[in-house]
Amino acid sequence: MKQILILNGPNLNLLGVREQGIYGNQSFESYFQELKSRYDSLDLTYFQSNSEGQIIDKIHEVGFSYDGIILNAGAYTHTSIAIADAIAGINTAVIEVHISNVHNRESFRQHSYLSKNCKGIIVGFGLDGYRLAIESFLK
Ligand code: DQA
Repeated sequence: MKQILILNGPNLNLLGVREQGIYGNQSFESYFQELKSRYDSLDLTYFQSNSEGQIIDKIHEVGFSYDGIILNAGAYTHTSIAIADAIAGINTAVIEVHISNVHNRESFRQHSYLSKNCKGIIVGFGLDGYRLAIESFLK
């Protein structure tokens, strides 16, 4: 059974409540249940943290055994050399996901420290981006 982790960073615990015009009105917990039933042949797990260190610890924890990590690091995408280094240091492939089209927003969202170390990037497809990332790991 393939092991895939969805790892969400800061403020993504507020999905469904936060800036609904940008991020939609569904909570991630409810979306994750949909993913779990759709992909019941996968070992799909979910972790969210608002702390950079906890995100790095999780990447280290699964990054030598899991088949894939789907990472939305939220605003740390645009600031964190430490998360970029964590991705570079593991064996598991990481796909970077953003719910919104970050290239259509403020200029500070248009640079990612993480992309260079990721297998691919999915941006601007709403929550469906996580499903697209799963599909890419099934290939
Ligand atoms: C985000 C985009 C980031 O710029 C922002 O800080 C987020 C969410 C997205 O999924 O669109 O928190 O990663």
